[in-house]
Amino acid sequence: MNKDIEKILVTTEQLKDLTSRLGKQISKDFQGKTPIFIGLLKGCNPFLSDLLKEVTIPCEVDYMKVSSYVGTESKGSITIINDVTCNVKGRDIIIVDDIVDTGRTTALIKNLFEQRDAKSVTLCCMLDKPEGRVVDIDVKYIGMVVPKAFVVGYGLDFNELYRNLPYIGVLKKELYE
Ligand code: IMP
Ligand code: MG
Repeated sequence: MNKDIEKILVTTEQLKDLTSRLGKQISKDFQGKTPIFIGLLKGCNPFLSDLLKEVTIPCEVDYMKVSSYVGTESKGSITIINDVTCNVKGRDIIIVDDIVDTGRTTALIKNLFEQRDAKSVTLCCMLDKPEGRVVDIDVKYIGMVVPKAFVVGYGLDFNELYRNLPYIGVLKKELYE
């Protein structure tokens, strides 16, 4: 285990299981449709890559880069750094993010795609931290619920580090306090 990790919350095996479960469920629910998966960079990677391998229906993939966090603090507003290149009008959109905490990012993104006349906007997050919720938001697909701790790994970072860990772990508090 990485020396900066206090404990592992989601093992590699559990990540494999949850991506498989979500991919199968989405394929079933979107049968007969061709959704566009929109991954929120950088945290959606590698979750989205693994999820896509489990999706058996025709689909498109696009990416968007927004910023809502500095260190371990949510800023409360988002800035679009890189927008999608696809036309979302009349399309079924599945927003894919690493974790939903306050819910602000996902709520703002959902709103944005609704304004762009998407046919439907569905949210899929690898992890959910319900104790951090500030905005009421319906995330249809959730990989796993985690307690209110700052977690890293498998796409999740702390100041750009730890995204490469093959598991999700709680970062030692002394590293950011
Ligand atoms: P929200 O807007 O507060 O729901 O935050 C969502 C975004 O904050 C996620 O897309 C993550 O990038 C980031 N985030 C929230 N909690 C954590 C965490 O525990 N570790 C790393 N990033 C986090
Ligand atoms: Mg993120």
